[in-house]
Amino acid sequence: MHHLVYTSTATLPFAETELRQLLAHWRATNARLGLTGVLMYSEGDIMQVLEGEQAQVQALFSRIAADARHRGVTKLADGPVPERAFADWSMRFRAVASSDFQQHLERLSGASGPASDLAPLLEAFMASDAW
Ligand SMILES: Cc1cc2nc3c(=O)[nH]c(=O)nc-3n(C[C@H](O)[C@H](O)[C@H](O)COP(=O)(O)O)c2cc1C
Repeated sequence: MHHLVYTSTATLPFAETELRQLLAHWRATNARLGLTGVLMYSEGDIMQVLEGEQAQVQALFSRIAADARHRGVTKLADGPVPERAFADWSMRFRAVASSDFQQHLERLSGASGPASDLAPLLEAFMASDAW
């Protein structure tokens, strides 16, 4: 199992309703490709986790990275993980306040070491509204 985490900035901030419509489409694709993950969004700031077979993760990430709807795509993690953190979600969505986004990102960026170190942080984030 492989995961890839990146951050980016929307070229034009998405309206949340627009993003939810896009997600419905993307989820169908992810389900077909056996991909799971989460998309965190805050006023144009994006963080996405992609999980699945390495080839599928890389193929989708190549398309996403080339997508003109966002820029500044920066990988935070790209490596093997023991298991999926979002097994039940073809792409979970979380809209967060700007201050929370930055806080979460700083914690993720500070998590050096193997990619799998990110998993507990991600799970804690998803389980808690406090972040
Ligand atoms: C922030 C962001 C996240 C995206 N996440 C996904 C995703 O999880 N799954 C997906 O199929 N497409 C996602 N896309 C869309 C892809 O970039 C691309 O449009 C889609 O894979 C269709 O590519 P194709 O037209 O080459 O088939 C995302 C785009 C953006 C901007």
